[in-house]
Amino acid sequence: MRGKEAILELKHVSKNFGGITASDDICISVPRGHIYGIIGPNGAGKTTLFNMITGVYDTTEGEIYFKGKKINGLPTATIAKLGIARTFQNIRLFGSLSVYDNILTACQKNITYSLLDGLFRTPKCRSQEKAMATYCEELLEAVGLIKYRDQQADNLPYGLQRRLEIARAMATSPELILLDEPAAGMNDEESMALTAFVQSLRDKYGITIVIIDHHMDVVMALCDRITVLNFGQLLANGSPDEIQSNPDVIEAYLGVDD
Ligand SMILES: Nc1ncnc2c1ncn2[C@@H]1O[C@H](COP(=O)(O)OP(=O)(O)OP(=O)(O)O)[C@@H](O)[C@H]1O
Ligand SMILES: [Mg+2]
Repeated sequence: MRGKEAILELKHVSKNFGGITASDDICISVPRGHIYGIIGPNGAGKTTLFNMITGVYDTTEGEIYFKGKKINGLPTATIAKLGIARTFQNIRLFGSLSVYDNILTACQKNITYSLLDGLFRTPKCRSQEKAMATYCEELLEAVGLIKYRDQQADNLPYGLQRRLEIARAMATSPELILLDEPAAGMNDEESMALTAFVQSLRDKYGITIVIIDHHMDVVMALCDRITVLNFGQLLANGSPDEIQSNPDVIEAYLGVDD
């Protein structure tokens, strides 16, 4: 923990779907500012954890705390407002919109002016819209997408679509961001670029990142700590070195070619 406060805590979290135990008594503590990895074979329960953290599902048992506040059972929109954003295993973008408009629609969550302010274009409305436009441009610059500003999202290469998805999540100014297999389907060059990008987000914005990925090189290079899941159960928590030398992990996961 390096003495850092935990921004996210899962305490004895379980999730059952009918007869399937997707998560079984999981305890995880994510220190603020860390890049935290979650790995495990297909069906190990990785995405289910993200779905519980973001309120898509409530826990069957156990509790989830964000900044010390219990969040499991709250609606997804409330959890998002508290400062948690995510990306999905399958890319979800507005494909026919431009790169800029994809970011702008995500930024709109930050608007506080009323419908009447909007209708009469009051100073409050105009100043917020101006601030939002500036923020979108800054974000595009920061994530290296400014030169694609007016391109249709569908026309971007795959690696840049993933980056745009992360930028959309960043547009809500979260304190914690959950990335579900952002390097899926990427070649080595693209996944290396993604690794540097995720690192830069943490370094620039001080944001806490939890990342699910199958690319061992990505996870080992990026993460301060890692949790390994297997059949819904927690197999190990530890630093990349501890995880790579853990015999249970080697047997269950690392030894198997992905
Ligand atoms: N809504 C649901 N209803 C029923 N079963 C579900 C549901 N969501 C997940 N599961 C089951 O829970 C288990 C864990 O699924 P989950 O998607 O969390 O795995 P994962 O580790 O993300 O896998 P992958 O690497 O394939 O993405 C699987 O057996 C899956 O079929
Ligand atoms: Mg998954």
